[in-house]
Amino acid sequence: EPKKLWGGAFSEKIDPLMEKFNESLSFDRRMALEDIEGSIGYASALARTGIITEEERNEIHKGLKKVLEEWQSDAFVAKEGDEDIHTANERRLCEVIDSNIGGKLHTGRSRNDQVATDTRMWLRKELTVLRKYLRTLIEVAIDRAEKEVDHVMPGFTHLQSAQTVRFSHWLLSHAAAWQRDDMRLKDLMPRVNTMPLGSGALAGNPFGVDRQLLAKDLNFERVCPNSMDAVSDRDFVIETMFWASMTLMHISRWSEDLIVYSSQQFGMMQMSDAYSTGSSLMPQKKNPDALELLRGKAGRQIGTLTGLLCILKGTPTTYNKDFQEGWLGMFETVDTMSDCLQIAAGCLATMKLNPEKMKSSLVAEMLATDLAEYLVRKGMPFRETHHISGAAVKLAVDKKVPLDQLTVDDLKSICDKFEDDVAEIWSYEKSAESRDTEGGTSRRSVLEQCAKLRAYLKET
Ligand code: ARG
Repeated sequence: EPKKLWGGAFSEKIDPLMEKFNESLSFDRRMALEDIEGSIGYASALARTGIITEEERNEIHKGLKKVLEEWQSDAFVAKEGDEDIHTANERRLCEVIDSNIGGKLHTGRSRNDQVATDTRMWLRKELTVLRKYLRTLIEVAIDRAEKEVDHVMPGFTHLQSAQTVRFSHWLLSHAAAWQRDDMRLKDLMPRVNTMPLGSGALAGNPFGVDRQLLAKDLNFERVCPNSMDAVSDRDFVIETMFWASMTLMHISRWSEDLIVYSSQQFGMMQMSDAYSTGSSLMPQKKNPDALELLRGKAGRQIGTLTGLLCILKGTPTTYNKDFQEGWLGMFETVDTMSDCLQIAAGCLATMKLNPEKMKSSLVAEMLATDLAEYLVRKGMPFRETHHISGAAVKLAVDKKVPLDQLTVDDLKSICDKFEDDVAEIWSYEKSAESRDTEGGTSRRSVLEQCAKLRAYLKET
């Protein structure tokens, strides 16, 4: 009969379904290495206080390393009653070394400060990887934006043809959002990398553990300032989930653009076969499943974030078992982001442009604003020129010709400020180039955006 870690005051056996209901080893085993790493640090901290001897510390270290090797070689065998990764590792430690020594490891420690420490160590490592993936996505965007800056295409508002933009300008509009996502991730990382260990169950450590030294050993930037908050705080997980939700919301909108632009009706871009799938019925179909999954994953991620907020919101301060439910979402968040960021970068790197279709999708009415701006340059108030250009659009509709097919005389009949040089505005390229202020769609401005984003990646 395996002895429970906490069985002392219990006389009745646990209900079998309750045992299964309660366990978390099936998922928190992902933090096995961090759990052991934290324990190695904690044993050293205990030895520094004199509450365990150096020999005992060495023995505990030896045992923990043995358990670590078992995890690494997939040789660790979970036993009935291993409630979570913390109890499993401690149970095994007490088998591989003298249990009278192994039993000293948990002195002054609680699973409450332990689990919070393990997850922070696990998450900080994962976030470093995710940040690399996000930055790769941004780099791919900059590369394409620089190389393909020549292509102009329709820009949309309300999904209605609006004005001419460069393909690169459109792409950088998404990269700008991804840059903010990168900033947010960088910003939250120090709050993940804060150490709860040495807080005990809630009241603090009674053996004088030096938390600053312990934090240094475990590579934490700082220690949690209050022991009750330390075991209570899951902000670092929620922030991570929020970051993930925001990032995927952005990726989802980018995906949606691509889904639309790559449809046959738009035809401006084409997803690579590597990220498309076919139809079981219609032989001609190539569906943008990668993009649709990215859009779908964003929805789930928002649910995960909402889930943890709901788990936390009614709990009294310090630790409650409800919190255990949060780890599933944390693991899912990291896995989802790992997949999504790499898939998004792959889609972006391999998709093909159809510059001809981009150009042929431009319609003269998209230069109506430029027509109004022409008169502004002749000294008229914009509000008036807006009406005049609108009248020109209407005249073109009435004459059943595109706007740029109106004759100079047609235009002069609407407003006597039109001169022969008005014919020069019927150029999409010129329209794009005229928007040359910072953040605009001119070639110079777009390349400047690329350069700035590159510099950002280099500096941060
Ligand atoms: N498996 C638990 C969790 O993930 C560890 C902490 C348990 N602490 C406790 N006092 N029951 O939340």
